[in-house]
Amino acid sequence: MKYRALGASGVSVSEVGFGAWGIGGAYGSVDRAESLRALARAEEFGCNFVDTAMVYGDSELVLGEFLAGRRSKWLIATKFSGQPEGLEATLDKQLVRMGIDAVDLYQIHWAPSQAEQELYEALYRVKKAGKARLIGISLYSIADINSVLKQGRIDVIQLPFSLLDPDPFLAKLDLIRRTGVGVIIRSSLKEGFLTGKYRRDAVFPDPDDQRHGWTPEQIAATVDSAERFRFIEAEAGSMAVGAACYPLCFAETSTVVLGTKSVAQADSNFGVVSGSRLSDASLRRIQSLQREMGLYDRKGRIRDALRFF
Ligand SMILES: NC(=O)c1ccc[n+]([C@@H]2O[C@H](COP(=O)([O-])OP(=O)(O)OC[C@H]3O[C@@H](n4cnc5c(N)ncnc54)[C@H](OP(=O)(O)O)[C@@H]3O)[C@@H](O)[C@H]2O)c1
Repeated sequence: MKYRALGASGVSVSEVGFGAWGIGGAYGSVDRAESLRALARAEEFGCNFVDTAMVYGDSELVLGEFLAGRRSKWLIATKFSGQPEGLEATLDKQLVRMGIDAVDLYQIHWAPSQAEQELYEALYRVKKAGKARLIGISLYSIADINSVLKQGRIDVIQLPFSLLDPDPFLAKLDLIRRTGVGVIIRSSLKEGFLTGKYRRDAVFPDPDDQRHGWTPEQIAATVDSAERFRFIEAEAGSMAVGAACYPLCFAETSTVVLGTKSVAQADSNFGVVSGSRLSDASLRRIQSLQREMGLYDRKGRIRDALRFF
């Protein structure tokens, strides 16, 4: 496992983190024992970062069970998702659920609006109280990045970035670099569609699966779009590894959190993805495909954002 700086926070994070939504049931039924084995396997490979939320089913409870006796090996990130009791009372509950005294990163699950600015104050207070070592915002759009980074006191942002969703990350690389904010990348496998394992006629019958409500047209269109990037398989060994290591080709990425719920996935996500990179030629081909497919949110110029290492 390779490690990167979590922005300017002084914290070193594994470049692949454990996305713990799946072990709470986001992608259909889960086997708790297998979830615990997947977490242990991730740890064996050197993963030290896990991202969860109270709204991810049993995820925090499974983590609580897992962390007993190994707290110091992990950086734990969770989120406030708008629970009515408020941010501070919710964090207190989450600490009890996970059996820990403090989290390493506490995030608000969306970018607060103008009317919600007091949420930032609550976030600053939990940091000051030592209940959260770092604070962050999980966000979605270019406008979100602009408004959150204006605050100047946010340690980390979390955002989606994948072959099919190049923005907002690529649009805001300069600002991200200038502010020194840590960056957690999520949804790089695009609900599994960028692993190449689904066909156009895929169905998701489990009502708890977040893809259950997708229309057949949406599924077919997503599979068709993903297939255009199939060429990365030759270089990366599999679509799943190629899609997962794409964000790691950018120095501004601190860690990519991969939704993992089995030992087999952990073997790939933590044993193979870290250290994998796509070649300059592949990154250029990806960029021109993204442009051709109209995947950039921005109007006008697409800067040459590719910087590799
Ligand atoms: N707003 C927010 O803050 C927000 C939103 C979304 C996600 N997140 C965070 O980001 C994390 C990652 O996002 P995600 O879980 O939605 O999606 P993801 O990591 O992009 O994709 C998960 C999907 O990929 C599949 N998968 C994972 N590893 C695989 C492998 N090695 N081979 C084949 N398939 C594989 C899973 O398959 P199976 O279905 O078979 O398990 C699942 O369908 C979450 O766990 C959560 O921590 C945060």
